[in-house]
Amino acid sequence: MSSQGRAAQVLMNSYGEPQAELVRGEGCHVWDSSGKRYLDFLAGIAVNALGHAHPAFVTAISEQAATLAHISNFFVSPPQLKLAETLLDISGARSSGRVFFTNSGAEANEASLKLARLHGTPLGKHTVIALEGSFHGRTLGALSLTSNPRYREPFEPLPAGVARIEPTIEALEAALDEDVAALFLEPIQGEAGVVPLSHEFLRRARELTSQVGALLVVDEVQTGIARTGSWFGFQDSGITPDIITVAKGLGGGFPIGACIAYGEAAALFYPGAHGTTFGGNPLGCHVSQAVLDTIVELDLASNALLRGEQIAAAVLALDEPLVKGVRGRGLLLGIELAKDVAPEVAAAARAAGLIVNSPNPRVIRLAPPLTVGDEEVTEFLTLFRKALRDV
Ligand SMILES: Cc1ncc(COP(=O)(O)O)c(C=O)c1O
Repeated sequence: MSSQGRAAQVLMNSYGEPQAELVRGEGCHVWDSSGKRYLDFLAGIAVNALGHAHPAFVTAISEQAATLAHISNFFVSPPQLKLAETLLDISGARSSGRVFFTNSGAEANEASLKLARLHGTPLGKHTVIALEGSFHGRTLGALSLTSNPRYREPFEPLPAGVARIEPTIEALEAALDEDVAALFLEPIQGEAGVVPLSHEFLRRARELTSQVGALLVVDEVQTGIARTGSWFGFQDSGITPDIITVAKGLGGGFPIGACIAYGEAAALFYPGAHGTTFGGNPLGCHVSQAVLDTIVELDLASNALLRGEQIAAAVLALDEPLVKGVRGRGLLLGIELAKDVAPEVAAAARAAGLIVNSPNPRVIRLAPPLTVGDEEVTEFLTLFRKALRDV
């Protein structure tokens, strides 16, 4: 029986039919069970920061698994302390910041939502604002923030008190008042089709949230960990948020997330306020530390910025009528098409041996490993052009 047939018999159908059964990965390539090789320009949706089976990743997992994989959160471990220190350092939050470890991006946002309640409720602030186009995850709390009604409506009633506004400065100015406990935003809305918010918008969001005493929560689950050329997507704008959430690239393929809070927001949790069995276990933290150390060692943030510019320019230079434009930053790029054929282009790319995806019918998203070099860029351009011409 085919792997699709087996999947249909044992897996819930929440992801649709699997596109292939992948068995192995190395660098920027993966192989399916028939032996076909693919160039992976999606990296598990912005996850495999170091590519597949990177020696630093493999060594870190093996070392820590042989030393101490899991303990309860009644204890701490050296990898957990070290990773928390590193995250605070790269966030500029070392003096007053604190970290809460999670297993995913949605959980990092859940933790932030709880912080927003602990901050807002005693002050009579009962509204949380999220943006149209946003994606913050699928657990009920995170889903209450997520914009797409198709994801939300079947699961209503969701936690109350969330207001959604257009991502414009005018809408921000109209919505931010004393009743607001927190504003959640992504510096680049990945799931909406790689739609960047302007620096001006981020700065105004910071000004207004500070003025009304609301927390500014920046969801860096997709944009963070050097993907856009700096540790976090917001950093170029010069703002300091109250909370950052990360996951995806943080573990480079190991499931780990974090909610990083600054100042007052960092002191809101008290014993018993929140918890998760696996959050911050030594195995995940040691692997994540190895990912972050390797990003520094290989200067992958600069590589992300450089390769992003190279890919965007080269895609435009293909001069294909189906390509309307390229947006995003670093290695989170959205190629806007002239017609609603992105799913067909992604399927044609797969047939040609290239993995990309289409967050909406007009956009092809690229989120390759941060390690991509000239060879992979050239291979991508050849395969992508073929896919465009095949459609
Ligand atoms: C910006 C953003 N936030 C949150 C999430 C949810 O993360 P996870 O799937 O790890 O729960 C995602 C996932 O795509 C995301 O892109």
